[in-house]
Amino acid sequence: MSGGSGDSFVIAIDGPAASGKSSTAQWVADELQFLHVDSGALYRAATALAVRELGAADSWEEARVVELASDVTLVPGKTSFEPRIRGEAAEEEIRGADVTKCVSRVAQMPAVRAWVNEQVRRAAVGHSVVVDGRDIGTVVFPEADLKIFLVADPWERARRRLTQRLGRRPAEAEIAEETERLVQRDAKDATQTVQARDAVLLDTTYLTQAEQVERIVALARAVASSSRIVEVEDEGSRRVRSYRPA
Ligand code: CDP
Repeated sequence: MSGGSGDSFVIAIDGPAASGKSSTAQWVADELQFLHVDSGALYRAATALAVRELGAADSWEEARVVELASDVTLVPGKTSFEPRIRGEAAEEEIRGADVTKCVSRVAQMPAVRAWVNEQVRRAAVGHSVVVDGRDIGTVVFPEADLKIFLVADPWERARRRLTQRLGRRPAEAEIAEETERLVQRDAKDATQTVQARDAVLLDTTYLTQAEQVERIVALARAVASSSRIVEVEDEGSRRVRSYRPA
């Protein structure tokens, strides 16, 4: 497949909190042998450093947070780019409640957004990627080959997130609390969570993950084969469609 930035193919998957973007993006990347880039993990890693070093979140200054963010690197692995904090993986820390509580504040800082966007764009140079976030199809890769906007009912998103986190069936009261937290984070992230005009909207409330992955992979294959259709001029100087060899 080709297109996107240089010779790489870019799939952008955006949507609200816990809409299944990251797990879907990773699965799609595995199917297509692309690399997954989780832009939210970079916001989380920068936030984790601020939690470690800067005390109460109310006093965090943008310049200080972005300076700390320079200790985060995005390292290519076999199937994804992984953030490292001072060279160390920090998956558990970046997914923890302290970071989740403060990440939307850090994500409002323009200098942090510019830093994340640069890391993500750099990852796509020379690699075909599936990138998930909030503004990937609008700001980071407006020319992405395929854009998906994933949505799901908030209660269902909360149920899925808790099942993944707790490893058991959550109680109704737990789902209600988590729904409230998700809806609040959606409100804080609303400005940057934008569906691109040319994105395909996928409501996953009643889909299994396998079904949603299958749809995105099918769309990617369709785009890749149609991108071999090019416009050329015929002998009468009319624009006609022709096929570029694979
Ligand atoms: O996994 P979940 O959907 O809960 O969130 P995430 O993708 O890990 O992103 C964590 C936070 O980073 C979000 O709540 C946003 O505040 C921010 N974010 C953003 O502003 N723009 C992005 N492209 C990705 C994440």
